[in-house]
Amino acid sequence: MVYSEKVLDHFQHPRNVGEIPDADGVGMVGNAKCGDIMQMFIKVNDDEIIEDVKFKTFGCGAAIATSSMATELIKGKSIDEALQLSNEAVVEALEGLPPVKIHCSVLAEEAVKAAVEDYHKKKAEKQAEAEK
Ligand code: FES
Repeated sequence: MVYSEKVLDHFQHPRNVGEIPDADGVGMVGNAKCGDIMQMFIKVNDDEIIEDVKFKTFGCGAAIATSSMATELIKGKSIDEALQLSNEAVVEALEGLPPVKIHCSVLAEEAVKAAVEDYHKKKAEKQAEAEK
């Protein structure tokens, strides 16, 4: 079997699928080569802890499994910890991926980073608004 049990489990039963309508940060990334797209939504509390996270992935099975695992790994973590999440950590948590599928885990890392960046951007905008 090319895929680990963990990958198959997260592909068949992805965790945290969906969107958060009033998300504090939304990241959308894509891979131009395969055309897969991943969207990540985060809800962050005042202590900068990720209280909720959801994802939508239009992509291959490994993209679904890696985004599912990425949400599990950052839920309940601080946004700084989420930024540290590497694609290697996602692959490790999934007990490996075939080499041709490593780029799918990179997409998951990028989606998390994009969501955190969007959170920072939105927060800065809110602060600027409040100071007016
Ligand atoms: Fe592109 Fe999986 S084949 S994300």
